[in-house]
Amino acid sequence: MKFALSFGLGISFLGFVLFSKADLLDDILSSLRNAVDCESCHSLLIPLKTLANQGDNDFSETFTTICQTLKLDDNDVCAGTFNLTGPVLAHSLRQFTLQSNTATKFCYAAFGLCSQPPITLFKVPFPKRAPVNPKNFVSQGKPPFQVVHFSDVHVDRQYTVGSDANCTKGICCRNFADHVGPVTEPAGPFGNLHCDSPPDLADSMLDAINQFGSHAKFSIFTGDVVERATWLVDKPEGEADLAAWNSQMAAKVGSPVYGAIGNHDTSPVNAFPRTDTQTTLNAQWVFNIQSAGWRQWIGAAAATELDHTSGSYAVVVPGLDLRVISINTQYWYPQNFWLYDTDNMPVDPNGILAFMVRQLQASEDAGQRAWIIGHIPAGKADAFHDQSNYYDQIVQRYKNTIAGHFFGHSHKDQFEIAYSDWNNQVAETADSVALICPALTPSSGNPSFKLYDIDPDTFEVMDAKVFITNITDPQFQIKPTWELYYSARESYGPLVGNLSPKDSLSPAFWHRLTEVFEANDTAFQLWNTRLSRGGDVSPCTGSCINTTICDQRALRSQNSCDMPSPGISFRRSESPFFPKADHVDCEGGGVYSLFSSLLSKIAAGELGPDTAALIRRILSREEYL
Ligand SMILES: *[C@@H]1O[C@H](CO)[C@@H](O)[C@H](O)[C@H]1NC(C)=O
Ligand SMILES: *[C@@H]1O[C@H](CO)[C@@H](O)[C@H](O)[C@H]1NC(C)=O
Ligand SMILES: *[C@@H]1O[C@H](CO)[C@@H](O)[C@H](O)[C@H]1NC(C)=O
Ligand SMILES: *[C@@H]1O[C@H](CO)[C@@H](O)[C@H](O)[C@H]1NC(C)=O
Ligand SMILES: *[C@@H]1O[C@H](CO)[C@@H](O)[C@H](O)[C@H]1NC(C)=O
Repeated sequence: MKFALSFGLGISFLGFVLFSKADLLDDILSSLRNAVDCESCHSLLIPLKTLANQGDNDFSETFTTICQTLKLDDNDVCAGTFNLTGPVLAHSLRQFTLQSNTATKFCYAAFGLCSQPPITLFKVPFPKRAPVNPKNFVSQGKPPFQVVHFSDVHVDRQYTVGSDANCTKGICCRNFADHVGPVTEPAGPFGNLHCDSPPDLADSMLDAINQFGSHAKFSIFTGDVVERATWLVDKPEGEADLAAWNSQMAAKVGSPVYGAIGNHDTSPVNAFPRTDTQTTLNAQWVFNIQSAGWRQWIGAAAATELDHTSGSYAVVVPGLDLRVISINTQYWYPQNFWLYDTDNMPVDPNGILAFMVRQLQASEDAGQRAWIIGHIPAGKADAFHDQSNYYDQIVQRYKNTIAGHFFGHSHKDQFEIAYSDWNNQVAETADSVALICPALTPSSGNPSFKLYDIDPDTFEVMDAKVFITNITDPQFQIKPTWELYYSARESYGPLVGNLSPKDSLSPAFWHRLTEVFEANDTAFQLWNTRLSRGGDVSPCTGSCINTTICDQRALRSQNSCDMPSPGISFRRSESPFFPKADHVDCEGGGVYSLFSSLLSKIAAGELGPDTAALIRRILSREEYL
């Protein structure tokens, strides 16, 4: 029976012989071998679509077996990743047409083999024209108020003190079932470079926030609660993690927290289906939990809005002419594989852009200023060029109202500038700036949070101070101490020059800082060290400097320099597409990193006839072929 199944033929209900499963597998393996550029990636999609049409299980099992046989990662990581994400990939593969724009985007996101196609032109509709005489927000030189920003906490509730911090998986410090031999590097009580945050480290940060930010009016939290054991995180675990973090914040933080939803705050990771996606696996549970958990801070109306607007909501901060607009950026995220299930990808999935416009118009009408908070920065390679372009149209229309954008996701201390004239990127045209908060999780540098000084009349950022705890300090595992790492105003102000006390850290200021970086390598290297808060620093010289400065000048992702290089086979750590830390830290072994690893192993000749035969044997044993 097994044997008969193995070499049986797929028969359609009309009686036509469609294909043999063994032939299909051969076709997939040879197409994978040939996949070196955008065109050959499109060819690869032909057998992948056929496989997807056989069903989610066949799709997941085939890739699990390929992954395990080629040792792209540990067996449980291969199985868990494709078990969870395989059905999402298969769903999209079944829907889009070969050679379509969507297929090109899929090749970009899954394999890094295509560039993003040209932008789909779309003019964002606005209810009103920009006012001829916009309200002038002028600093009166009053003392600033404080706001705390923290992000990417990635709290691992299964972190186990004494377990091995030296392991082969994306995160360690857990009692993994496949661990063998003695523990070589016991996990300390407060965290490790190879692990996500233990709850005690998160508590220590929340205490430090209360200490240094004791006068803060509120905090912003830009998402990613859940630890990055993405191959294991199912819905029950995701629910428990989100609820536990909400309780932990509520127990510690003395002022309101305005949160945003991150790409890890669901299951499978990154997967937020559109409202009209035909699936039973929706992400409404995420919105329900956050709506209930955040109601105490954002109020009943915003909580209801969050629940009904796919995680986005807005709050006018009590007593201030400031509206905080929290958006769910995951509908613009190429790694959200639900988005590819149509040839006509909507310009505004789930209406997030329209929601922003409504809120910004309301702010303008009320004479308020607005902050946008979200997880994935609008200018990263992680944001589709299309939606980032439309986002920029909104920024340009409401630039007088928007006093700041605040994001996380990259785990790094960064900024991104927008310009009224993208062909003339100078201080005079710089008109908006996003500040990106580094992470709590120690896996990408020293744990950190930011404290802003905010002008109470303009709601612009007067200073951004970064606080860290040093994980290599001998006292760290006894009791982490938090300290001021640097103040942007004190440190960069003199380099830029001409900053008077009433001047904010404006878009022009940040642009001039990029000019300093071009001219002064010492200053640039200081910034580069601070990117990871002095821990796990990646050197950046030569063209890396140009790319970095280019990215600093790109709150619109089409202007960023993070481009895939079709045809280059890349190892995990050398992807030209996502800088190392971005994709390893944020995806923690998602499908993209497995596919990158697959392509590089194939390029190294590791998918020869013997391996192909082994894959076929395993699949036939599992009564699949
Ligand atoms: C795959 O998922 C199913 C439920 O969706 C579960 O029963 C099964 O144990 C999972 N298999 C692996 C290898 O994770
Ligand atoms: C980490 O574990 C591997 C395999 O168990 C071992 O070979 C290596 O020496 C360990 N590294 C350290 C720093 O202990
Ligand atoms: C952290 O502590 C180590 C060891 O004391 C020291 O070498 C390093 O410079 C410190 N890092 C920072 C950013 O202060
Ligand atoms: C370059 O930057 C360094 C580090 O911030 C600073 O000490 C130095 O004065 C700068 N050099 C010039 C010429 O501005
Ligand atoms: C970096 O950019 C400058 C001009 O902006 C250019 O002169 C230089 O050749 C570039 N360097 C690299 C390594 O690309």
